[in-house]
Amino acid sequence: MTRPSGLQAEESRRTLGRLFAPIQAGLAAAERVFQDELKSRHPFVQTLVDHCGDYQGKRLRPALVLLTGGACGRIGEAHPILAAVVEMVHTATLVHDDVLDESLVRRHAATVNAEWGNESAVMLGDYLFAHAYRLAASLETTLACRWIGVAAKEVCEGELQQIHNRGNLDLDEATYSQIIAGKTAALTAVSCRLGAHYAGALEPAVAAMESYGWHVGMAFQIADDVLDIWGDERATGKSLGTDLEKQKLTLPIIRLLEAGDPAAVAEARGLLMEARAGSRGRLQPLLEESGALDYAWAKARWHVEQAIAALDVAAPSPYKDVLAEMAEYVLRRSS
Ligand code: IPE
Ligand code: IPE
Ligand code: MG
Ligand code: MG
Repeated sequence: MTRPSGLQAEESRRTLGRLFAPIQAGLAAAERVFQDELKSRHPFVQTLVDHCGDYQGKRLRPALVLLTGGACGRIGEAHPILAAVVEMVHTATLVHDDVLDESLVRRHAATVNAEWGNESAVMLGDYLFAHAYRLAASLETTLACRWIGVAAKEVCEGELQQIHNRGNLDLDEATYSQIIAGKTAALTAVSCRLGAHYAGALEPAVAAMESYGWHVGMAFQIADDVLDIWGDERATGKSLGTDLEKQKLTLPIIRLLEAGDPAAVAEARGLLMEARAGSRGRLQPLLEESGALDYAWAKARWHVEQAIAALDVAAPSPYKDVLAEMAEYVLRRSS
């Protein structure tokens, strides 16, 4: 298994533009809900909110809500609201994650912590969480609030498990999988569960869409962890190398330490103990030559295949086609 042929940054943006064409109206509506909900009469708070509006991410989670909605029935009034809610939760976790990782760049701009300090970043993250729940509570039932609450607590559990395992060079793959399932797959899974349920799908289809979202999230985070070591900051638009700096072991490293030859393992352990972002360049050949990088890609590819298989429950539609393409996109993305 070799690395999937990666997309260049511009090609990556164009691909998403094309994939999101069937849900343009829903995404635009979600954007308006997002900005309206977060408005503040306090100028400083509004400055921070504007920063989130000026530097937007890929909007993958809102897209998942809308696409699963379209694939399972009808995109209704609740969908743009739910799309805004999941993006708010996601943005909150990023703002907090950048404090934890001491990251300086996010979405091609300064992080909130770099520009305004950790205290503001912590409170902005809380502000986003608070609004996400207020907005979810504006729907007819408490169902979405409950599901989002469960996913958000799983994100926190994943991040906390990761913090607890910092510097643990014996971290195993099963624990790594639990960490990424919590911090990333829980939110992509619930985005798809919500999209399907609010389109009127019955539980078997809702569960299948949730499984699709979960596997996409797992593949997405493995690819993100590979990008942290091999990616280009100009393309990702975010600080890289922080996993190594913070001694967060990810799949290629775990595999090298478990299955590499003794000399490579000893060298890698030394580099990991030094914990410098600059050790990326020295770890790369060890990971490539030992097959550890290929191993990580094979795992990510397996998740993509599971995700695509889960789409079998949906009738043929342009939305379903895009969901299948999105599963492939998460491996090829460069940002
Ligand atoms: C980044 O997610 C955080 C991870 C789960 C790795 P995205 O890459 O979807 O972030 P944005 O929203 O596009 O900035
Ligand atoms: C954190 O993972 C993802 C979240 C759920 C917040 P990372 O630390 O790898 O995310 P990036 O690389 O900073 O986006
Ligand atoms: Mg981070
Ligand atoms: Mg990362």
